[in-house]
Amino acid sequence: MLENPFILEPFKSKAYFCDREKETEEIIRNITNGRNTTLISPRRLGKTGLIFRVFDEMKERKLPYETIYCDISDTLSIEAFIKVISEAVVGRLGKQQKITAFFKTLKSVRPLLGIDPLTGSPQVSFTFADDNQKQSTLKEVLGYLESYPQMVVLAIDEFQQIREYGDVNMEAILRKHIQHLHNVRFIFCGSKKHTMTDMFTNAKKPFYESTAFLYLSKLPIPVYSAFIKEKFALAGKTIDDDSIGFIIEWTKDHTYYTQRLCNEVFSLSGEAIGRKDIVTAIQTILDSERDRFQEIRRLVTRSQWKMLAAIAMEDSVSQITSAAFLSKYKISSGPTALRNIKALIDKELVLATTIENGTGYSVYNVFLSRFLANNIQHLRP
Ligand SMILES: Nc1ncnc2c1ncn2[C@@H]1O[C@H](COP(=O)(O)OP(=O)(O)OP(=O)(O)O)[C@@H](O)[C@H]1O
Ligand SMILES: [Mg+2]
Repeated sequence: MLENPFILEPFKSKAYFCDREKETEEIIRNITNGRNTTLISPRRLGKTGLIFRVFDEMKERKLPYETIYCDISDTLSIEAFIKVISEAVVGRLGKQQKITAFFKTLKSVRPLLGIDPLTGSPQVSFTFADDNQKQSTLKEVLGYLESYPQMVVLAIDEFQQIREYGDVNMEAILRKHIQHLHNVRFIFCGSKKHTMTDMFTNAKKPFYESTAFLYLSKLPIPVYSAFIKEKFALAGKTIDDDSIGFIIEWTKDHTYYTQRLCNEVFSLSGEAIGRKDIVTAIQTILDSERDRFQEIRRLVTRSQWKMLAAIAMEDSVSQITSAAFLSKYKISSGPTALRNIKALIDKELVLATTIENGTGYSVYNVFLSRFLANNIQHLRP
């Protein structure tokens, strides 16, 4: 049996990854020309996948770099940050000898090495006596990378998270250490555009103008369409252009959602795929997501849910306080709309994007958006 070619993980291999050729080149060019990169896009569009695509390409071209990836989304402190980076380094080193050498360079503290019983990946634990010890250990970890026999690329995913580290100014601390490194190139990746942009373009912030920016957009529709057609064809399935157009339109060309629908269509269909198969796949997905949608509903107030449904009905809204929008969806007032939209953005349920004449608001999760738009009863008070 052929494996489903529509992957639901960030990266498997180049064959299952659509396009991003220009972006891959651009990041490699930044790396090989001594520039750090800031990579930004809304969630689930393909940033993490792109990082792995870049690493894979660098390996294929035999570029002399060690590539290290870490995701700091679960970190809430400088200790946790040091732990995640150290584990990523250890995971890359592989051999015990090298790991011992790495630990030897950490003079301020004695780390302990373990293995995560669930994933089998290395676990490093530290016990810090005070803040000074944390700071010096961070410096030593980065110092290790600086003295590494090869150049190093360190990708830090969900970088905006460092703003959640309580009262330490992690940006200032990191910047202080990073600016002296010559052997390490960084990729700072994040989905909170406002925070990321503030970090790197605000003259008052430590990372001001220290990196090259890359805003990842949606995949070009003709390229993605050709990719989808080809993947079905390689598995002996035919699909007409209208159906592909419908898939991309329905999922708003938002990579994860498009992949998920294609994956479902692939798993449910026979050799010839038509509109009916896609409708069945959509139904299957929406049914399987129903519990999660109910969960989200419980996380918001009645009035916020109503607002979310209104935005879904409109697809995208810019005039959030206009009389027309408020009266059409029976929203009590402009201030209520503004309050609700702010709460929904904070909860990452609504995505705010800059458009020609201001800000456009849409429901972040495309499946939820379609679900709400199709279920008008959610608008009833
Ligand atoms: N170029 C691509 N080709 C095929 N599928 C892709 C591509 N890019 C992303 N995907 C799909 O989209 C999903 C989301 O991608 P990824 O996790 O890289 O996004 P992200 O921007 O890092 O999201 P988040 O901000 O939530 O971490 C992947 O799991 C994969 O299914
Ligand atoms: Mg990601």
